[in-house]
Amino acid sequence: MSNKMWGGRFASGPDAIMEEINASIGFDQKLASQDIAGSLAHVAMLAKTGIVDAADAAAIAEGLKTIRGEIESGSFTFSRALEDIHMNVESRLAALVGPAAGRLHTARSRNDQVALDFRLWVRDTADQIDGQLRDLQKVLASKALEHAGSVMPGFTHMQSAQPITFGHHLLAYVEMLGRDRGRFQDARKRLNECPLGAAALAGTSFPIDRDQTAKALGFDRPTANSLDSVSDRDFALEALAAAAICATHLSRFAEEIVLWATSQFAFAALSDKFSTGSSIMPQKRNPDAAELVRGKSGRVIGALTGLLIVMKGLPLAYSKDMQEDKEGTFDSLQTLSLCLAAMTGMVADLAPDTARMEAAAGAGFSTATDLADWLVRALNMPFRDAHHVTGRVVALAAEKKVGLEDLSLDDLRGIEPKITDAVFAVLGVQNSVASRVSYGGTAPANVKSQAERWLTALQ
Ligand code: ARG
Repeated sequence: MSNKMWGGRFASGPDAIMEEINASIGFDQKLASQDIAGSLAHVAMLAKTGIVDAADAAAIAEGLKTIRGEIESGSFTFSRALEDIHMNVESRLAALVGPAAGRLHTARSRNDQVALDFRLWVRDTADQIDGQLRDLQKVLASKALEHAGSVMPGFTHMQSAQPITFGHHLLAYVEMLGRDRGRFQDARKRLNECPLGAAALAGTSFPIDRDQTAKALGFDRPTANSLDSVSDRDFALEALAAAAICATHLSRFAEEIVLWATSQFAFAALSDKFSTGSSIMPQKRNPDAAELVRGKSGRVIGALTGLLIVMKGLPLAYSKDMQEDKEGTFDSLQTLSLCLAAMTGMVADLAPDTARMEAAAGAGFSTATDLADWLVRALNMPFRDAHHVTGRVVALAAEKKVGLEDLSLDDLRGIEPKITDAVFAVLGVQNSVASRVSYGGTAPANVKSQAERWLTALQ
């Protein structure tokens, strides 16, 4: 049997393999609610413009609402022979309301229909992700406020560099997530034009009102070029790019959590809720959720690459290749959403060992820069000379296997005779962080006010 939705010129039905490669209902049923919302807006416009009479339009709208109920309750039967969500809904509509159903597709094509449905899904999901990013920012900012004065080692090259505060470290992620939100919000502005009414590719001869449908569906305006409308997937690419960058941030943070949770670092413990045991090693507490957040960034990044490659060789306008836009996009944004939820849970429960972090903060001669700065300030030494003197002090401490603050004044004066015992005030980690008061620096006072600024902004 040929396809009853488009099979007019076909004598026989598709080969089984053709059906398998062609059908998208297995994944695009996710677009059901967007598809019905789009059809409701379209039929209301067809009625208002007199393209379809009021009685038929009312029957179609009723039928669509019935179908929405069936899909929500799980009683709807999706059929692969009907290819995709659009034709599954339309076919059911025909069964419910009879021949009037055939009028719904006036002045419309599946090309503008799918462009619309997919845009709506990306918009809805991006909005949800924005809310989740905000939740994670809030949890991080309140932890940061709580730990504005907790000292930990700051690293460069993964080597102890200078002492920082734990709050400062957490707020770095709040900043990153803030930019992630900016990227999603910015993408949303460009996304928010309605492609419905572009029809197959050239527009339509019917007197449609595109402003009406655009407004009804929450868009700022209709898209201005019908060819572009049906062949553009920038909105998905931009969301995928924002997701890939965000997943990269989450992955870096997850990596740090994995490190912090090791018995070697032991900076922070994950709660039981976000740890797993080993089936053979009874002592193990594995940070699986953090590892999975790190690992899942791979597929999120892959989805962006995948869609860029699908799109890059396509001539205008629609080609069936574009049906490959959905699975990766669905997976990417849903994976990101799951990772955000897991991260929020992990951070809320994360228990830092502040004593251990503070002890580690002093290791590796981490206050050497403070010593050099003191030589500049107190002895008016040029910084390069101060750097050299400090290097000799560090070498001496390393040779004696002690910290900088454990050297005697005589040891220090053996290197630079003008040093006084006032120098010891800057060699401790607390003093070190307290002195970093430049805007954006790690001083507890700065961290407190930055955390408060964020918490107010996130209200
Ligand atoms: N399932 C199709 C897709 O996802 C819908 C559009 C089909 N259009 C067409 N001309 N065959 O892209």
